[in-house]
Amino acid sequence: MKKYNRGITTGVFDLFHVGHLNLLERCKEHCDYLIVAVCDDDYVKNIKHKEPVFSLEERVRIISALKCVDETVVVSYEEVDDKMLLLEKHNFDVLFSGDDWKGSERYKKTEEQFAKVGAAIEYLPYTQGVSTTQIKESLKK
Ligand code: CTP
Repeated sequence: MKKYNRGITTGVFDLFHVGHLNLLERCKEHCDYLIVAVCDDDYVKNIKHKEPVFSLEERVRIISALKCVDETVVVSYEEVDDKMLLLEKHNFDVLFSGDDWKGSERYKKTEEQFAKVGAAIEYLPYTQGVSTTQIKESLKK
C-alpha cells in the first residue's frame, strides 16, 4: 500500500533527461495515481526567460508515454505560482517536488496553505550533475 493516492508534480521537462526520469519514478513509488503537470510555453519564456527546445506538444507526448505517469496535464504560470489553484483543479493528496525547491519563498507559502487544507508536500532528491541547462551548455561547446 502506497502512502498517497493521487500525487502531482510540475515542471517544464524540456530535453527530457535522466534527472526528470528519476524524479517521476520516485513520485510514482509514493502514490497510486501520478499526474504530471507540464508548464506551458509562456511559463518557460516569461519565467525561465528561455525558449523551450521541445514544443509543449512534444514535451507532453514524451511525459505521457512513460510507464510511471498516469495522467499528463498542461499548466499555466498562474497555476504553477499559486498551487492552491492547482489543488482545486486536480484534487490531489500530495505535491512532489525536487528538493532544489525546498526552502524557496514559493514553496514556504505553499506549505502554509496546504497545511490548512490537509494536502501534503514531499521533496524528493534532485539528481546532481544533469539538467536541461547543462545539456544546452555542453551542446554549445
Ligand atoms: N529535477 C531533478 N533532477 C534534475 C533536474 C530536474 O529532480 N537533475 C526535477 C526538478 O526539481 C523539477 C522537475 O525535475 O521538480 C522538472 O525540472 P525542470 O525545471 O523541468 O528541469 P531542469 O533540468 O532543472 O531544467 P533547467 O535546467 O532549465 O532549470
